[in-house]
Amino acid sequence: MARSSNMMLVFHLVALLLLLLAGAGGCHRALLKAHFYRHSCPVAEAVVRDIVLARVAVDPAVLPAKLLRLFFHDCFVRGCDASVLIDSTPGNTAEKDAAPNRSLGGFDVIDTAKAVLEAVCPGTVSCADIVALAARDAVSFQFGRDLWDVQLGRRDGVVSRASEALANIPSPSANFTTLEANFASKGLDVKDLVILSGAHTIGVGHCNTFAARLSNFTGAATATSDPTLNAAYASQLRALCGPSASSNSATAVPMDPGSAARFDAHYYVNLKLGRGLFASDAALLTDRRAAGMIHQLTRKGYFLEEFKNAVRKMGRVGVLTGGGHGEIRRNCRAVNI
Ligand code: HEM
Ligand SMILES: *[C@@H]1O[C@H](CO)[C@@H](O)[C@H](O)[C@H]1NC(C)=O
Ligand SMILES: *[C@@H]1O[C@H](CO)[C@@H](O)[C@H](O)[C@H]1NC(C)=O
Ligand SMILES: *[C@@H]1O[C@H](CO)[C@@H](O)[C@H](O)[C@H]1NC(C)=O
Repeated sequence: MARSSNMMLVFHLVALLLLLLAGAGGCHRALLKAHFYRHSCPVAEAVVRDIVLARVAVDPAVLPAKLLRLFFHDCFVRGCDASVLIDSTPGNTAEKDAAPNRSLGGFDVIDTAKAVLEAVCPGTVSCADIVALAARDAVSFQFGRDLWDVQLGRRDGVVSRASEALANIPSPSANFTTLEANFASKGLDVKDLVILSGAHTIGVGHCNTFAARLSNFTGAATATSDPTLNAAYASQLRALCGPSASSNSATAVPMDPGSAARFDAHYYVNLKLGRGLFASDAALLTDRRAAGMIHQLTRKGYFLEEFKNAVRKMGRVGVLTGGGHGEIRRNCRAVNI
């Protein structure tokens, strides 16, 4: 008698536990995992790495920046779901054809990795995971070791709209309030904003994206530049960009002069000297919390450690995981039909 009521109790407890687990599964998104493809496609990470490193070896000054920015633009619009890779169709202008797409690149590298992975493990590895891996592998090239771990298991979205890129990718003229709100809308805090902006330690900006800071900043018909921009640097930029800087989308300048190719904390050194290229870079100094972090970030070694955490957090923004969400695209440029 006592024994059978104990059994009933155990049954009830097990049933309750199962209910709790099911409930938890329903309200918490499944998480990304390290080595998600260990069983389903063991070569996945190695294939992406080999392709990315081979391409970066011939284009080390340009490609890491392109692939890192591609990851950012993917994650900030509908989460990291490879929506940035989808081509426009007759009925739809996709994210990549919105104004903030300026000079996005690296698409062909993703296509190559995807083609190889479809041949070895068809329908298994998402384009979104390839973007996340490619950014890590490309930036890590100059270090000869992985700078951060990439968690995997993202699925690919089926929607890509130019209007959403416009609404979600921050403008280079954004002030701190706008940047903070934009990052907060992605679950990223002020520290993430400061650290992830450090990505501007590599790559270039085109004249039209910062021209507004170079002349006529106050509306006077003079060469008045943005007072937060170092005057000597402003005149160098004016010389490089020419008189019609605001329509010059052909000339690009390094965002971290003095250390343009190194992925390091030098961006923050320039920032403190008034040599941040965009108003959005300079804006980081206008917030007391952010400015304090920037001073600390110029300490050796600290940036890479923090970037590791922030970029992993960015890689989790709005991800689609688990059954029923998204798909594994066969061709990264088009949703499956
Ligand atoms: C905080 C807000 C941000 C703004 C307003 C911003 C804006 C921009 C702009 C206007 C460019 C230049 C585009 C061009 O003229 O070709 C650029 C380049 C770049 N951005 Fe950002 N960005 C931001 C955050 C980020 C983040 C979070 C990352 C990555 C973690 C990132 C990575 C890059 C890279 C690597 C480049 C260089 C691309 C190249 O050389 O092709 N940016 N960004
Ligand atoms: C960006 O959009 C413009 C149209 O606004 C388009 O001409 C250009 O090809 C796009 N760039 C990329 C890399 O897709
Ligand atoms: C920041 O920019 C937004 C949008 O342009 C504007 O509404 C706001 O007043 C600005 N905030 C500050 C503190 O300048
Ligand atoms: C500066 O702005 C004023 C007012 O918008 C305009 O009349 C003038 O032509 C501009 N000057 C330059 C050098 O762009």
